[in-house]
Amino acid sequence: MITGFHGLAGNTSTSCVWACICILFFPSLLQAKSSSEPSYNYKLFCQGCHLPDGTGVLGEVPSLANNLSRYIKIPEGREFIVQVPGVMHALLTDAEVAELLNWLVKNFDYQFYVGGEFLPYSGKEVTNIRAKGYVDIVAKRKSVLKSSYDFEN
Ligand code: HEC
Repeated sequence: MITGFHGLAGNTSTSCVWACICILFFPSLLQAKSSSEPSYNYKLFCQGCHLPDGTGVLGEVPSLANNLSRYIKIPEGREFIVQVPGVMHALLTDAEVAELLNWLVKNFDYQFYVGGEFLPYSGKEVTNIRAKGYVDIVAKRKSVLKSSYDFEN
């Protein structure tokens, strides 16, 4: 019986079958890997509202493009970015949120990203901010920016 098993494993046509099975499953493995990529998560969780180029919708959804740095430069503003509902409640782990935010800054606020002032978010930082729970976003935005700006865009 054992000899039969060895015979099966070594059989050329059986190896071909296994190769075909691997090829068939390869695309789904690729998909599973890409699901944790920040660009993929942006598409899935954010761009429906913020649009592919991050420019948002005038008066309805704030622009992320060239906008994130003015918050991140201020400690409470750095927190604010994680506390907005779309980020706070995204079905992403804290580490994935950190990666996504770092990717956003790189893609939508590149000068700030490369300017040396930006300290990337870490998963632990996101955990600590998320643990603080709900805040009044409109009030916090106004206090962070010390202005009455309310994402006119
Ligand atoms: C259902 C639409 C929607 C989705 C999905 C969404 N957002 Fe938002 N986002 C908004 C709106 C609306 C606001 C303004 C909220 C407010 O002021 O009450 C906002 C605010 C923000 C802000 C603050 C910008 C500012 O100038 O105030 C950031 C940063 C942000 N979102 C990032 C994200 C990220 C990252 C994702 C995906 C993980 C995401 N959002 C998903 C609609 C959305």
